[in-house]
Amino acid sequence: MPEKLSQTMMRISDIAGVMRIETGAYSYPWTAGNFLDCLKSGYHCKVMTQEGGLVGYSVVMDVLDESHLLNLAVAPSMQGQGIGRMILDSIIDEARSQGRRRMILEVRASNLKAISLYRKAGFYRIHVRRNYYPTPVGRENAIVMGLDL
Ligand SMILES: CC(C)(COP(=O)(O)OP(=O)(O)OC[C@H]1O[C@@H](n2cnc3c(N)ncnc32)[C@H](O)[C@@H]1OP(=O)(O)O)[C@@H](O)C(=O)NCCC(=O)NCCS
Repeated sequence: MPEKLSQTMMRISDIAGVMRIETGAYSYPWTAGNFLDCLKSGYHCKVMTQEGGLVGYSVVMDVLDESHLLNLAVAPSMQGQGIGRMILDSIIDEARSQGRRRMILEVRASNLKAISLYRKAGFYRIHVRRNYYPTPVGRENAIVMGLDL
């Protein structure tokens, strides 16, 4: 990890900064309450900071031997510099070291950036959940992807 970047557990006090990224990164963002619920439920929530400023985050829920990546985002102004891949790699390493067998996630079928990121990290397509996500004109499919750890 480049010197200026560091990754720590997300705290309640991070949520305001997380929400600034979340609302810029997604058309249908999570609410602050969603992040709070994840923290209270003990999900693995991490933030990546650069010189004290928040640049990205991830939320992972573990169920037995499976890790479910629920959210991964990088601040729009910081995208395309390898930070998303760095966060993803650290999540994968952590899940492996905890003995998880598989990581799964859902991604919008139109989110080609994220799909490319996941494919390069070794994820494969498991199946399609039809009409899973809202769009301004209706619904779109989710691609369910998995990685054997
Ligand atoms: C998806 C996301 C997390 C990627 O983070 P990032 O820091 O921009 O990505 P990186 O710079 O680490 O790039 C990793 C890979 O992503 C893909 N990628 C990144 N930018 C891309 C672009 N503009 N077009 C196509 N693919 C792109 C590439 O496969 C890239 O690998 P490469 O650099 O070897 O070509 C980030 O774009 C984001 O936060 N998007 C909005 C939120 C989101 O959609 N999250 C995923 C929900 S499932």
